Amino acid sequence: MTERRIIVALDVSSATELRELVTQIKDTDCRVKIGKELFTSIGPLAIEICHDAGLDVFLDLKFHDIPTTCARAVRAAARWGVWMTNLHCSGGAEMMLVVREMLEGERHRPFLIGVTVLTSMSLAGLRQLGIERDLGSQVDYLAGLAHIAGLDGIVCSGQETQRLRKSIGQDFCLVTPGIRPVWANDNDQARIVTPAQAIANGSDYLVVGRPITASENPQNAIARIVAEM
Ligand code: C5P
Repeated sequence: MTERRIIVALDVSSATELRELVTQIKDTDCRVKIGKELFTSIGPLAIEICHDAGLDVFLDLKFHDIPTTCARAVRAAARWGVWMTNLHCSGGAEMMLVVREMLEGERHRPFLIGVTVLTSMSLAGLRQLGIERDLGSQVDYLAGLAHIAGLDGIVCSGQETQRLRKSIGQDFCLVTPGIRPVWANDNDQARIVTPAQAIANGSDYLVVGRPITASENPQNAIARIVAEM
């Protein structure tokens, strides 16, 4: 059983908002995710604020570039001491391999996670890119490439976890956003699962944003989700 399986998405854009949120959740059973908006707004200060509060950071910047550039960016993330970071599997097997190999030489090695097909992507969108597979097959294909390249896992929706867990096995980390406890608002998420379903389907970590951050009592919201799991 993995400890601290909830990753709170810190989708704010200023240091003031971040400090406020971090103060509310720092003593709970969670880790945190810093995404593109927060990182582009205040930079590595976001990581420092979270680390100062004793929180493990998933740096969700979804790197995608030529292998060397991508590897150097991920190395920089490793040197900030982040717990987890990610890149796009569609950057290719060589890119994933070069990144992983560069991390081997680092003193601190974050979990390296692949993004397969964004959940916002439709079948029509895939066709537009010239991809003939359906969405599920493309996810499976990219997950397989990530596994072969030695990544530690992938981000996937709650509806994909069961299938991927079966095909890829236990030794691969599945990180799942789109989590909604029964008592929470769906917001703009479409293919949602509850925390209990996500765990039953084989997810290792659950990314949860607004059900916690928009709650009047984020600490209590986390406790309820942990209990539900
Ligand atoms: O507030 P909510 O729980 O919907 O936030 C989910 C978080 O996970 C957001 O930071 C969102 O960008 C991220 N995410 C997602 N779906 C993906 C990948 C990431 O919702 N496929």
